[in-house]
Amino acid sequence: MNDSSRQTKFLRNYAPPAYLIEEVALDVHLAPKNARIASKLRMRPNPKMAPGQPLVLDGEDLALERVALDGKDLSPGDYALSDGSLTINSVPAQPFTLEIVTLCDPEANTELSGLYRSRGTYCTQCEPEGFRRITYFIDRPDALAVYTVRIEADRATTPVLLSNGNLIEQGDVAGTDRHFAVWHDPFPKPSYLFALVGGDLASVHDSFTTASGRKVALGIYVKPGKEDRCGWAMESLKRAMRWDEERFGLEYDLDVFNIVAVSDFNMGAMENKGLNIFNDKLVLARPDTASDADYHSIESVIAHEYFHNWTGDRVTCRDWFQLCLKEGLTVFRDQEFTSDVRTGPVERIIDARMLKTHQYPEDAGPLAHPVRPASYIEINNFYTSTVYEKGAEVCRMLQTLLGARPFRKGLDLYFERHDGEAATVENFVDAMADVSGRDLTQFMLWYTQSGTPELACSLDYDPHAKTAKLHVSQVVPPTPGQTSKEPMLIPLKVGLIGANGDELPLKLNGEILTDGLLEVTDREQVFEFHDVPAPPTPSLLRDFSAPVRLTTSLDANQIEFLMMHDSDPFNRWQATQTYAGNLLTAAAREGDVGRATGKEAVRLAQALATAARDDTLRPAYRAETLKLPSESDIARELARNVDTDAVHAAREALRAKIGGSIGDTLAALYDTAGTDAPFSPDPQSAGLRALRLAALDLLAATKAPGGARRAHYREASNMTDAIMALSILSQLQSPVRDDALAHFYARWEDEPLVLDKWFAVQARATRPDSVETVRALLTHPKFSLKNPNRVRALIGSFAQANPSGFNRADGAGYALLAGQALEIDRFNPHVAARLLGAFESWRTLEPGRQRHAKAALEDLAGQSLSTDSYEIVTKTLG
Ligand code: PHE
Ligand code: ZN
Repeated sequence: MNDSSRQTKFLRNYAPPAYLIEEVALDVHLAPKNARIASKLRMRPNPKMAPGQPLVLDGEDLALERVALDGKDLSPGDYALSDGSLTINSVPAQPFTLEIVTLCDPEANTELSGLYRSRGTYCTQCEPEGFRRITYFIDRPDALAVYTVRIEADRATTPVLLSNGNLIEQGDVAGTDRHFAVWHDPFPKPSYLFALVGGDLASVHDSFTTASGRKVALGIYVKPGKEDRCGWAMESLKRAMRWDEERFGLEYDLDVFNIVAVSDFNMGAMENKGLNIFNDKLVLARPDTASDADYHSIESVIAHEYFHNWTGDRVTCRDWFQLCLKEGLTVFRDQEFTSDVRTGPVERIIDARMLKTHQYPEDAGPLAHPVRPASYIEINNFYTSTVYEKGAEVCRMLQTLLGARPFRKGLDLYFERHDGEAATVENFVDAMADVSGRDLTQFMLWYTQSGTPELACSLDYDPHAKTAKLHVSQVVPPTPGQTSKEPMLIPLKVGLIGANGDELPLKLNGEILTDGLLEVTDREQVFEFHDVPAPPTPSLLRDFSAPVRLTTSLDANQIEFLMMHDSDPFNRWQATQTYAGNLLTAAAREGDVGRATGKEAVRLAQALATAARDDTLRPAYRAETLKLPSESDIARELARNVDTDAVHAAREALRAKIGGSIGDTLAALYDTAGTDAPFSPDPQSAGLRALRLAALDLLAATKAPGGARRAHYREASNMTDAIMALSILSQLQSPVRDDALAHFYARWEDEPLVLDKWFAVQARATRPDSVETVRALLTHPKFSLKNPNRVRALIGSFAQANPSGFNRADGAGYALLAGQALEIDRFNPHVAARLLGAFESWRTLEPGRQRHAKAALEDLAGQSLSTDSYEIVTKTLG
């Protein structure tokens, strides 16, 4: 790492590239230790920029063999090589051809960025700055070019050769053991969308005919033997392709769409044009190996990457500050897809929960940044839940404010204007403003202001005037680098509910508000509703219409009323969460579990039983209702002086109380709900399983006979049931636990993705010795720091999903994470830096834990760190 890589980059310093690359011809000779890449670039000076500038190409970890300008070799005096770049001082003012030959070492590439080998398969990962590890290039998203790629490799070991676009030629290299393939991608793209794969892969094929009649060959490439696990991914892909045509009028544009699954991948998946590369965890599924959660994430990530073909590939980002332009919008699109193919309200709950669990703490902590950051040190650290999930909420708010039709028109206009270009957030919002005629200046604050807005609402009813006044105030809390904030434009969906549970008409300023949508624009605002016959109960922030923290003046009775009567499914669920959350935070704050087990807990239990038995509600929805706020939800609500043991104790006490109070209802659900049908991953069947398992989770908490013992691990006939049973049993101190874990291991030790679950279950188990358990597993023969999935399964699950273990009062959890991250940082900074994100909420802890966390961070700061980890550690310390 060099010092310049630690410099802060600023959005305000954006300047277009001095040179343009029009065409790229790559000739790639694959070899394990020295892959040779010959690149031929047709270039010209950017007419928009000052002439005569030096040509600076990015490059990293490359051995340069040759540079030639217009066919003539350059000598070392003609160029300068530094750690991160190749500079040619003088190039023609006219179009010219640059040829570069470099070597790189795929086997030694442990960062998994650039060209690397995953268990014998050559593959690439170029977003955001990996292409420069393949060849010298203008490696930035606004440098779009048309690529032709010739790949050559050993025929026997590397029979499959893939790249972006369409295959135009293939054959043997005469007189050798080698063969080649030539791929051409007619769509101009930035280097981060380049991809190449070479390996001994099996494949599954299908086809899709687009609305306008183009027949697209679909292929999924996997390690031989895994062909029987591609069906769900293929079905999901076809569903996504059809949906994007129907909902957004967007068709696929090449003759081929390929997906490759690899076992070593830093992230989930990558949208390279026409050649998506996936973490195999998000492709492979078979009923006995994959859980319902796996099927759900495969479906949504396959869709996500496919949707990038338009939002990301056809229209890409001008610079990395605009990352949310493709990611927020594409997450929004995949969420809409999943809502349509599954149960909408359940998906909304899942998405809101995810946002609150991951994004709210980020927004409230030392790593807070706007959806469009204004600066960064290492862009790899900005693939965050703020950019992705809050970015998606921002798109959703635009759709809510404008209406679905105008929003669609706005997207159409955005594509019409920017197809084939590298665009900005302003381009996107301008299209929305232009189709709707609205001034969206204030709305832009969602992109530039960090922090979760706090919205306080209270309702005053005047029985004489028959009016109900809704007082709304908003505050956006200060965040690093942003001390004072402007008020935001917040879409606030509301309803007023009468005493008998009816929706009351919303009369505001002499008109009836049919969609219940209020626009909050000021720090303080009052909305006065007329002709309200009797005191109503307000339902606020329906459908989670904005990513804000809501506080209301509702008392426990009103919240209970909403639990029973709110016609908005999201808010009916939210009322249960709020009710439980209030009990749990009081208990945890006071260290008194009695606060969570009194008569209010019994009332909550009754309400849950009513919902759980309600056949008019979908099972998946009923399952969500039975899930109590998580320990991290409670910690987030507490916001300061958090004692994770008190949080755990409070939640366990409430679970046990509920399990005890409505045990019969829960047992009936567990014993009956759709158990005998053969496994099918469809949403209805998954919903029934979710309901049974949510019931089991509460029953298990009672510790009584029939509690944990109901977790019949050995009888589980599918992975969802097996993992649930294993999770429950793994909390116990008992031979039953050891037997179940040993049985699972013996059955699955040779299936890496399933074995990851075995590691993860143990890392998540809340036990006094969980730090020791994880430490012991670090030395397990099947554990490897080099495989990101395994690292996330063990160390990631421990740090992210075992709050009381990770935050153990003596600091042992922090020391474990810091030590492992430091080791990983030496060879894979991206993975290490992401793990270190687990420290982001350390300042919300009670003083003793804070001291330990701080010591671990300071110790890290004193080590030699990658740029990635350096940025996270120094910012986290603040
Ligand atoms: N762009 C990928 C996505 O779809 C994520 C990713 C980022 C993958 C960086 C690899 C590296 O969200
Ligand atoms: Zn994405």
